[in-house]
Amino acid sequence: MNKPQSWEARAEEFSLYGFTDMPSVHERGTVVVTHGEGPYVVDTNGRRYLDANSGLWNMVAGFDHKGMIEAAKTQYERFPGYHAFFGRMSDQTVMLSEKLVEVSPFTSGKVFYTNSGSEANDTMVKMLWFLHAAEGKPQKRKILTRWNAYHGVTAVSASMTGKPYNSVFGLPMEGFIHLTCPHYWRFGEEGETEEQFVARLARELEETIQREGADTIAGFFAEPVQGAGGVIPPAKGYFQAMLPILKKYDIPMISDEVITGFGRTGNTWGAETYDFTPDAIISSKNLTAGFFPMGAVILGPELSARVSAAVEAIEEFPHGFTASGHPVGCAIALKAIDVVMNEGLAQNVRDLAPRFEAGLQRLAQKPNIGEYRGVGFMWALEAVKDKATKTPFDGKLSVSERIANTCTDLGLICRPLGQSVVLAPPFILTESQMDEMFEKLETALDKVFAEVA
Ligand SMILES: Cc1ncc(COP(=O)(O)O)c(C=O)c1O
Repeated sequence: MNKPQSWEARAEEFSLYGFTDMPSVHERGTVVVTHGEGPYVVDTNGRRYLDANSGLWNMVAGFDHKGMIEAAKTQYERFPGYHAFFGRMSDQTVMLSEKLVEVSPFTSGKVFYTNSGSEANDTMVKMLWFLHAAEGKPQKRKILTRWNAYHGVTAVSASMTGKPYNSVFGLPMEGFIHLTCPHYWRFGEEGETEEQFVARLARELEETIQREGADTIAGFFAEPVQGAGGVIPPAKGYFQAMLPILKKYDIPMISDEVITGFGRTGNTWGAETYDFTPDAIISSKNLTAGFFPMGAVILGPELSARVSAAVEAIEEFPHGFTASGHPVGCAIALKAIDVVMNEGLAQNVRDLAPRFEAGLQRLAQKPNIGEYRGVGFMWALEAVKDKATKTPFDGKLSVSERIANTCTDLGLICRPLGQSVVLAPPFILTESQMDEMFEKLETALDKVFAEVA
């Protein structure tokens, strides 16, 4: 076999890429990364990039946290792998479940492990189907989510995701219903107040339940802040308007905290930041600070009791992954929770969030920035052709991709999402690193807007 020579050529020859604009890769080449230093990653050419995306939102403690590495090494030496089937599980798994319930918003609960956020959402859906069938309602199967939601890529979680790109797979599957995205700036109607917008969305929820029949709806899933939809915090009072309706019709509310969990919004949970209590939480990403692939379903007291009763009746929950509750993953998660909550990382998010917002507010004065939005350490700037009418740029101009590519050239990684640029740096970011992020971003914005505006 004649192997191509460069890292870039070898990557393209043998790897398939996920969620990647291939013309851009062909033109610019792949950034092949070898290691990281704090919030920076370094490529095969020795170039350093400030990763203002924390990898994929998950490397919240940075790329070389010694304590995390030590926890992984110690557990690999102690017991490098096991499962959680057939009445066996590792001591680390037992300890992590205890810890997750302790730090959850629930007074009691139960935890089920997966390898990813997608699988955790998939597992939750199966758990609801299993539960409702065991309670004599096998037809209670439809899932409510929102447009612009991102819940993952397995066939079920992609069906929950509210993005048009899933049509290339013939998804969503039947029975997945997408409600209006709670983004007031973009979807509020002419003359409609934020309060009226929220009331309209609550009405839509109730009318949907009445039209479909409450006995056909298994659950409602929502990210407290829509992440991969472009960092969209809910309109004011959104969850307070939606939750009582779900409760009235006995529809469990699942908070997908894959991004918002463990500090990203400044609190342990996004549900805490937006002041609501869900029936279950989906966790992943930050759960292990990105040091191990792991997801978790955390059930609150009511669902724990109902799912346990269903399991007792059938004598088994016939579901699980080989690596569910992997001892190394659990040991890493225990350490990650400790690092985020007790080593000042969540505190740093709270401390620097005002500075973050001030920086964005300043950039949002530019004529081609329509809105800045976010919370804690997850923010977006949305580019517009016309600020007054909120008219987007022609999609063919790929404005956000151009901004992100220019940032990459300057040594800053940020993510283009729709017409927005997303910033979600590791929680260890210092003030001077934040300044560096804004300087590079501003240079890129000015360059690209001069080209396209
Ligand atoms: C809110 C949310 N849920 C689920 C997922 C899917 O997680 P994974 O990529 O680990 O399957 C993601 C991934 O970005 C996410 O942001």
